Amino acid sequence: MARRKLVAGNWKMHGLASDIAEVSAIAESAKEYGEVDVALCLPATLIERASRAVPTFAIGGQDVHGAQKGAHTGDISAAMLTDAGAKLTIVGHSERRTDHGESDAAVRAKAETALASGLDVILCVGESLEVRERGDALAVVTAQLEASLPTNDTASFGATGLAVAYEPIWAIGTGKVPSIADIAEMHAALRGRLVAAYGDAGQAVRILYGGSVKASNANEIFGVDDVDGALVGGASLKAEDFLPIVEAAAGR
Ligand code: PGA
Repeated sequence: MARRKLVAGNWKMHGLASDIAEVSAIAESAKEYGEVDVALCLPATLIERASRAVPTFAIGGQDVHGAQKGAHTGDISAAMLTDAGAKLTIVGHSERRTDHGESDAAVRAKAETALASGLDVILCVGESLEVRERGDALAVVTAQLEASLPTNDTASFGATGLAVAYEPIWAIGTGKVPSIADIAEMHAALRGRLVAAYGDAGQAVRILYGGSVKASNANEIFGVDDVDGALVGGASLKAEDFLPIVEAAAGR
């Protein structure tokens, strides 16, 4: 099945008001690649400012709470993200799972609440180096997906409302990337689980690869079956690094 590719940047804990010019530069250049969906997931403090600067471009958050509202000091709700202009959010990034002890159940709640609130969701899964080296990556990552997949009716979030990002933890920010064969094997397994969970709608869910994606490896990664885009950290901070990845996703 032909799926439109999605290239999403994850700025993590980087970015101040002075960086809105870079957001604008990325959004402006992305217009040239109409065949690809492009988004930037920014620190919460920049979402409203960025949304005002580039109103037609997809700005996202990096996390959301599983509850609609309440006594959760320091957290951000789906309604707050939407109110600030966000169109999407990441959930379950390994840095959140590690730094904040987020369980699969918590990640599922976040995804469900975000989708029910009209946000698109990028749900992250991925294995540690230890799990990869003992040969358990497929079993661990597919189990993680099954336990964190939202149970919302697929008709309610539509074909592009949910994306899954396969991000091996050992590949994030390290310059290391799994072999093409390992990426292909994992993405095929994740596709199988999505179809098992959602039926035909599981064919429409995009599966992104994330972890040290850059201009020099993007073409090869995007050539893999069931790789429907990328979640990009370090190389999303500057237009000159990010746009070549978008161009590769466009197949140009
Ligand atoms: P990286 O980060 O591209 O800097 O490896 C990817 C991510 O954590 O989403």
